[in-house]
Amino acid sequence: MRNDTVRRVLVTGAGGFIGHHLVKRLKSEGHWVRGVDIKAPEYESTCADEFLLTDLREFENCRKSVDGVDDVYNLAADMGGIGYITAYHALLTRNNILINSHMLEAARISGVNRYLYTSSACVYPMFLQDSADVTPLRENQAIPADPEKGYGWEKLFAEQLTTYYHEEFEMDIRIVRFHNIYGPLGTYEGGKEKAPAAICRKVGLAVDNAEIEIWGDGEQTRSFCYIDDCVEGLVRIMASGYTLPLNLGTEEIVTVNQLVNSVCAAAGKTLSRKHDLTKPQGVRGRNSDNGLLNQVLGWAPTTSLIEGIQSTYEWIWEELSRDNRAQNPNPSRPNSFANTRN
Ligand SMILES: NC(=O)c1ccc[n+]([C@@H]2O[C@H](COP(=O)([O-])OP(=O)(O)OC[C@H]3O[C@@H](n4cnc5c(N)ncnc54)[C@H](O)[C@@H]3O)[C@@H](O)[C@H]2O)c1
Repeated sequence: MRNDTVRRVLVTGAGGFIGHHLVKRLKSEGHWVRGVDIKAPEYESTCADEFLLTDLREFENCRKSVDGVDDVYNLAADMGGIGYITAYHALLTRNNILINSHMLEAARISGVNRYLYTSSACVYPMFLQDSADVTPLRENQAIPADPEKGYGWEKLFAEQLTTYYHEEFEMDIRIVRFHNIYGPLGTYEGGKEKAPAAICRKVGLAVDNAEIEIWGDGEQTRSFCYIDDCVEGLVRIMASGYTLPLNLGTEEIVTVNQLVNSVCAAAGKTLSRKHDLTKPQGVRGRNSDNGLLNQVLGWAPTTSLIEGIQSTYEWIWEELSRDNRAQNPNPSRPNSFANTRN
């Protein structure tokens, strides 16, 4: 007989940034884990017990993926940073609605115990986010709806659909709204990277005193949540029994210019900035209100931006140094200037 504390868990999007970290966490707790994705993890091998390379836009592939599992963490999505999600509204929305509607139905038929859907702060109304000095967003403010075009509309619709499965089929659901997750092992180039990784890459590639390009005037505001806190939050939310949407982010709001300052401090570099006002910037200001998260879990993310950026920058710098692109100093040995490959 199976030990009840050991569960059979499906993680979709397990070849992606958050999914890969989540698989590692679930394995470290002794669970049996099946990972599913259209691609393998980019930077290290998966430790999932099974890894299916499969396209979840197809219903039959969703059926095979959920077969025999207790819990589903549905993280698979066609997504990227602000450049990517504002460029591909039609295809991205279609891809994600297929994944999410098929995953829900497959999970229902298969009778999974718990189903967690990963949504986004992009569901919040644009009209609440037109000032850099934004009021932190509470879960009950998502409707009346005015979400981000494409990606945000799909996330909000998939939240609703997940809720209907709870109401009509008594599916035990969780809905998590991430706010800007970042950390090591996240995509840092190629067009799908998000702001913290893109800025770490630009700073890592720059020689001291050079100039880097920043999208927008840099006065847009965000909060950023470190990957370890994200994974901790996911596991806690799954265990919570709470079936309404919950923010998962930090309340440490900064401007993009302050984010750049943090990366430069981690790098030990002084860089000037060229602001490109033609590039997409997203909403003017966005922050998480963690009141409900604290109330439900008695917990909220704790990693400061300075700490999280330090380890993220160190990892990206190491990656860039593999093909001799990283510029000194080496952030792990800031005083050594010992990277002889440059
Ligand atoms: N990272 C963030 O800041 C953030 C913020 C808000 C919401 N989210 C959500 O969290 C989840 C995970 O995000 P992430 O940052 O790890 O992104 P990611 O892009 O690294 O991971 C998503 C994974 O889904 C996979 N995928 C895409 N289409 C698929 C398909 N048809 N079949 C199977 N797999 C497919 C991708 O290959 C990718 O590996 C996503 O649902 C995303 O929308 C992330």
